[in-house]
Amino acid sequence: MIQIFSNSMGSEELAAVQAVFNSKWLGFGKETQQFQEELGAKIGSFRTLCVNSATSACFMAMRILDIGPGDEVIIASVNFVGCANAIIDRGAIPVFADVDSRYLNMAPAEISRLRTKRTKAILLLHYGGHPADMDAIWREAGDLPIIEDSCCAPFSTYKGRNCGTLGDIGFFSFDPMKILVVGDGGAIILKNDVLLNRAKEIRYMGVANRQSGIDGLKTGTQRWWEIELNTISGRFVPNDITSAIGRVQLRRVDGFIARRKEIWDFYQRELAGCRGLSCPPEPLPGTTSSYYLYWLTVPERRDALAAWLTSKGIYCTFRYFPLHLIKHYGSRQRLPNSESANETTLNIPLHQNLQQNEIESIVRAVREFFG
Ligand SMILES: Cc1ncc(COP(=O)(O)O)c(C=O)c1O
Repeated sequence: MIQIFSNSMGSEELAAVQAVFNSKWLGFGKETQQFQEELGAKIGSFRTLCVNSATSACFMAMRILDIGPGDEVIIASVNFVGCANAIIDRGAIPVFADVDSRYLNMAPAEISRLRTKRTKAILLLHYGGHPADMDAIWREAGDLPIIEDSCCAPFSTYKGRNCGTLGDIGFFSFDPMKILVVGDGGAIILKNDVLLNRAKEIRYMGVANRQSGIDGLKTGTQRWWEIELNTISGRFVPNDITSAIGRVQLRRVDGFIARRKEIWDFYQRELAGCRGLSCPPEPLPGTTSSYYLYWLTVPERRDALAAWLTSKGIYCTFRYFPLHLIKHYGSRQRLPNSESANETTLNIPLHQNLQQNEIESIVRAVREFFG
């Protein structure tokens, strides 16, 4: 089977893990601090904190912004299920926004359509790695806080600035199916120091002024085991094993993205004009993409194409099943573009480990299907 997602773990990552084992310090420590600093430097924000997953970051974001019962958060329907769960977990209501039919990013005009006096934030996704139309989003959002799910778009840029640093809170995922992979992990980026300090407490149970045990002695504390809380929270810290992997991946990730772009360009060239489908749009002018997903629009027989490709050993899927269609949420919204995407969109493999013969066979299989 040609996999749809893949990752690149090699001898350098293994050596970094071995060094952490040798140090006997496996938890949150020096490696995590360094990973945070290096990631922050690369994306241009020193208000970057590593966490144990992007889902955790999204749950944290709701607490950081004090989203509570009865509040509403506008979220694109084509998004990851954990993001809507994070809203509901606070007793708040996800208000699902429709997407632009080509980019599958939140349609900016949806913000004015759906906004009420209970709206507390906008949660948007940069679908497939292509940055959303942020100028239009900013115009529509006004003073509403923006949470940027940048899991598809690590190192994508919008007018020279990195996705994840464009809103009030941004986050990345480093899970096994992403571009930069650590096993499980993520990062959260905060716009100002108030949000940053709150995020630090919320990342670790709500503990105020956390310093590690005996370090308290240096600041004159005699009983270094005493703690105080500023709020109630869970435990969202990463560890030095995954952070050590992350530091190696950070040095390699530009190469992964460059290779992904080559494959994207190949598909764009080779599938252009194939009747029965449309290729995805290029990133908006003034933006760059990390090319996380490649998405075909197949107005008729999408499911038959999916079955055909899997029968040829080519994994395909559709990310992300529209959230307003998840029955458990009980939404009665009708969102035509998201629903149409659900019927016609198919993601085919796009990752740095694909070989030339594999991408050629994928193109051949797609073309064969349409005759
Ligand atoms: C768009 C998006 N947001 C959030 C997440 C959650 O990431 P994690 O697996 O690190 O919790 C994912 C993971 O698939 C995702 O694709």
